[in-house]
Amino acid sequence: IKGYDWTVQDDASFKSFLSSHGWTDADAGSGNAKATKVKVVKSNDDRNEFFFPGFIGTYKPCQSGVPGLIVLPDTHIHAPQFPNIGLFGSSGLLDWLNEYTFPMEASFGSKSDPKNQQTDPKKTPPEGLRVYDQVVARTLAHGTTCASYFATIHVPATNALAALCHSHGQRAFIGRVCMDNKDQCPSYYVDQSAEQGLSATKSTIDYIHTLDPKGTLINPIITPRFAPSCSKESLAGLGKLAASYTPALHIQTHISESTSEVELVQQLFPDSTSYADVYDKANLLTNRTILAHGVHLTKEELSLIRTRGSKVAHCPASNSALGSGLAPVRYMLDQGVTVGLGTDVSGGYSPSILEAARQASLISRLVQYSSEYQDKTGNKTSDGSEKLTVDEALYLATRGGAAVVDKADDLGGFDKGMIWDAQLVELGAVRNSTKSPLDTSATNGIVSRAVVTGTVGNVDLFGDETWQEQIQKWMWSGDDRNVKNVWVQGKLVHTRK
Ligand code: GUN
Ligand code: FE
Repeated sequence: IKGYDWTVQDDASFKSFLSSHGWTDADAGSGNAKATKVKVVKSNDDRNEFFFPGFIGTYKPCQSGVPGLIVLPDTHIHAPQFPNIGLFGSSGLLDWLNEYTFPMEASFGSKSDPKNQQTDPKKTPPEGLRVYDQVVARTLAHGTTCASYFATIHVPATNALAALCHSHGQRAFIGRVCMDNKDQCPSYYVDQSAEQGLSATKSTIDYIHTLDPKGTLINPIITPRFAPSCSKESLAGLGKLAASYTPALHIQTHISESTSEVELVQQLFPDSTSYADVYDKANLLTNRTILAHGVHLTKEELSLIRTRGSKVAHCPASNSALGSGLAPVRYMLDQGVTVGLGTDVSGGYSPSILEAARQASLISRLVQYSSEYQDKTGNKTSDGSEKLTVDEALYLATRGGAAVVDKADDLGGFDKGMIWDAQLVELGAVRNSTKSPLDTSATNGIVSRAVVTGTVGNVDLFGDETWQEQIQKWMWSGDDRNVKNVWVQGKLVHTRK
């Protein structure tokens, strides 16, 4: 772990690393859901830092074991909207798109040719490159080890985003946004035709496949913006395009975010029985599809989504900011749908998945008051079961997100064989202990015996918190000041300044 640069490629050295820090194989991720002990991995001197955490709980219906080190996949984020963070006024989704979002996204095309469908990377305006560089650096600083990005319609800027993720070392899915419905999209920001959108998309896929031929870090993702902005022809073409690769490409889009959007989809696609059916008819509901929001999905739609194996990116901060509604996460999970968390920058005001976890927990406490939720579940009086605990919110932020990006076997926990995507979280300092509590042989590695006090960032510890309480305080009050280091694919990619 010298210099914190650690590559988990070789099982023997990994095992010896673990045993030299007081871990056994079983502790290190047998997927033992009953594990209650928390082990700490000591830093290479006495700086009182921890790999967070050993075990933080399970979500029952998923039963895939326990999360380990915190890897935070952001399953839904719009990179070009980063400069608009915090700007949404009192507009709802459809107005916000026209007022704030489309003009900002259009600026990622060249000035002389705003539609900018050429492949010359020099056509990305320098401001665009600066924004993308900052997005990757800022999300890494918040511990986002993996992000599923919407870019814009522009090929050069989309390719530049992929190249920046690659050079920063962030795991990423990069999607060129497709939108060819001239009635619904502004004339300054629209694909010229379905064919032109498809061929521009293919050229970003080719670029990304050349950049990272094995897809170790960067992968393309098929990205119809949402049903209203696409023709039937382009939706069907994109479904076909995704399936034409082996393995099939990932797909991402938005679904049932606001009620006016759902009504618009009914008007635009009268032949479809539901919003989900629009995508299903175009073969866009696959087991590698990420559907953002899903606030207003019906039981039938959730059932279709489960059957197809598609996943939901829950974006609670955005749903509140744009007034889209209260997504019933417990209900979705109970219907067997896989859920992870997304920031949805800049519908969402924060690039932090930790913020998304706390917003998910807050919204789950309010959803009982929604009449839509009461009608859907038949629950007129809450039994409290809709509330997500800290463990469950962190589960969604880690293992849930990993499952949403179809990497549950590789990411999201500390199981044997998983990839070393991790962050080192710093809370207060260890004090008042005759022996170093980080000496795992002396304490059996149970960190609650350590007295951790002090303030790091916004988290205040007074010394009597158990490990679980420290984690709760971290979820409710933590931020990027607690993120000391971040690794992706075994490589150190961020160090807090
Ligand atoms: N629906 C279509 N486009 C967008 C977008 O950019 N953000 C959000 N939140 N919803 C959308
Ligand atoms: Fe979005």
